[in-house]
Amino acid sequence: MLQDKITQYIEEIKAFAPTSTQDVEAFRLKFLVSKGIVKGLFEEFKTVSSEEKRELGKVLNEFKQLAENSYAEALEQFEGDSTDDQGANRTDLTLPGSGYVLGSRHPLSLVRKEIVDIFKKLGFIIADGNEIEDDWHNFSALNFAPEHPARDMQDTFFVKKEEGNDIVLRTHTSSVQVRLMEAGQPPFRAIMPGRVYRNEAISARAHCFFHQIEGLYVDEDVSFADLKQTLYHFVKELYGEDTKVRFRPSYFPFTEPSAEMDISCSICKGEGCQMCKQSGWVEILGCGMVDPNVLENCGIDSKKYSGYAFGMGIERITNLKYEIRDLRLFSENDVRFLAQFETETI
Ligand code: PHE
Repeated sequence: MLQDKITQYIEEIKAFAPTSTQDVEAFRLKFLVSKGIVKGLFEEFKTVSSEEKRELGKVLNEFKQLAENSYAEALEQFEGDSTDDQGANRTDLTLPGSGYVLGSRHPLSLVRKEIVDIFKKLGFIIADGNEIEDDWHNFSALNFAPEHPARDMQDTFFVKKEEGNDIVLRTHTSSVQVRLMEAGQPPFRAIMPGRVYRNEAISARAHCFFHQIEGLYVDEDVSFADLKQTLYHFVKELYGEDTKVRFRPSYFPFTEPSAEMDISCSICKGEGCQMCKQSGWVEILGCGMVDPNVLENCGIDSKKYSGYAFGMGIERITNLKYEIRDLRLFSENDVRFLAQFETETI
């Protein structure tokens, strides 16, 4: 009986001609696992007479060897083969790797970095403040009269309204000037990038938040000529040597005298286009000499020290650089827009 079975399985194993790793696995499951045929025959072997044992012991061991060797050979045959189903799961080291998809830098971050780097080379440090500010830092210390229209509900987001101590989302980065000056004594030479908020209807040309970069320089004998030279240098670095610059008188509560600075339109080179509303000029920043009241409000002797300040919108400068005509693109996170900018390098 046992002898017959062994003979029959030997035939089967000899005829075994696997065509895939699945066949090989099926063979292993049939013959070699703990509930498989080989183990089963050894169990059966225990039950036969000692006479038969003598006869069959050797045959059974040879059968076991045959099954194991056939399995090992079959395994070898399919090793490294990736054309069959199982092989498809193995790693084929000859295939090209699947690359990492890298993000790109946001255009506002690119331009902010460019601006900050220009001022860093001039010795400006970077400072920052709070996006949620109190009335003092956003308005009062900056010489805004109590009835100044900028405090009005139309422009300012109020977090808390309390007589004399409103809490607001800062409407400009000039609040950081106050924080910086309160914290020490001149000289100050700092550049202050940050997000600001204004209560405006969202459109292509206005948004309820945007980004500014503030600059402040306070020391003995700082003059308007210093301000102009610094800004000339900045514009030429950012937009090129042949960019023209002009100052127009303006008004800010915290600077006296105050000016707005225009540059020749970087897109039409002053010829007149949609971006500059056919004028050939675009306003890029507000600036002026720090009002002595502001210095005094921050505990700085305005007889000894003077300073200049300027503030610009990063969106405006980015629009000019990349010819972007809709502010909403900056915050919509549309990958088709964002992927056009410089890729992050690692
Ligand atoms: N804070 C002003 C604004 O938001 C810009 C400015 C900054 C003007 C510093 C003068 C000096 O428009």
